[in-house]
Amino acid sequence: MFGKKCSSCHSLGEGDRTGPDLVGVTKRRDTAWIKKFVRTPGAVIDSGDAAAKEMLDKFKGVRMPDQDLKDDELDAILAYLADCTAKGMCKIATGKAKHANEATPAEVAFGRALFEGSKRLTNGGPACISCHNVRGAGILGGGTLSKDLTHAYPRIGDPGLSSALESTPYPVMNQVFAKRALTSAEAFALKAYLADVSKDGTSPTADHNFLYLGIIGLFVALGAIGVGAAGRLRGVRQSIVKRGAP
Ligand code: HEC
Ligand code: HEC
Repeated sequence: MFGKKCSSCHSLGEGDRTGPDLVGVTKRRDTAWIKKFVRTPGAVIDSGDAAAKEMLDKFKGVRMPDQDLKDDELDAILAYLADCTAKGMCKIATGKAKHANEATPAEVAFGRALFEGSKRLTNGGPACISCHNVRGAGILGGGTLSKDLTHAYPRIGDPGLSSALESTPYPVMNQVFAKRALTSAEAFALKAYLADVSKDGTSPTADHNFLYLGIIGLFVALGAIGVGAAGRLRGVRQSIVKRGAP
């Protein structure tokens, strides 16, 4: 369970990732605090808890998402954290994901096509671009729908990004992808694309293409999450809809 729900952001003895290394956490915090924090980190932070505030600053304002865990699951995770603390570390089996620098140019291109939605995801998830941008300067204003992913690769790290894409631990994404998981090949290609974007320093497509792709992708996503795009298309200028059509 830790490998699935937590390891995209936490290691156990291999240093901080998006969140703190959790070896030692059962010594530095008391059990009641950990239980409360893991389920509702947002509420603990907002209550003015000093330890939580300090962590939020240290981890650059990234908030841990609330974790929907049953009592026995939470107890099992706590026991696991205590055991790893006693051992000094635990290796987490996240599968043997290849490193992004092993990707071929074709795999990077495949990742970009998936990101932009010109290739469909096997299990029917919406294209990433419907919620994310890469590069801050797009007309949509990167990161207005969700986080700009230009620097996601260095921020999250290679193994972290693999498990993030395979388990989508973020609440909104999880709702959309829980039943439409990315395949391992897709997760790898997307990781390779994000790695490429983070180092190359140029915009991957012209900005206006991003705008149209973003609009199309947004409707696809709204449809997919059941909001129903039909009524909304009427509000958009017909010329944009036509020009935007693939
Ligand atoms: C999307 C990233 C993410 C996921 C997934 C995540 N966490 Fe966190 N976690 C964080 C961040 C970031 C912090 C630091 C506090 C903050 O900024 O919200 C944190 C803090 C913590 C802390 C407090 C650590 C300390 O030193 O006091 C615990 C305990 C914790 N997480 C446990 C878990 C467990 C257990 C799971 C899986 C069920 C999990 N987290 C999933 C990002 C995440
Ligand atoms: C329905 C909207 C939606 C779609 C579609 C979507 N995401 Fe997300 N994604 C989100 C949200 C919301 C977050 C959480 C952002 C936050 O914590 O601020 C997120 C977070 C992320 C993160 C972590 C960012 C970070 O730096 O912590 C990555 C990486 C990511 N998404 C990649 C993808 C990829 C790749 C795809 C396409 C397969 C995708 N997303 C599709 C909404 C979406």
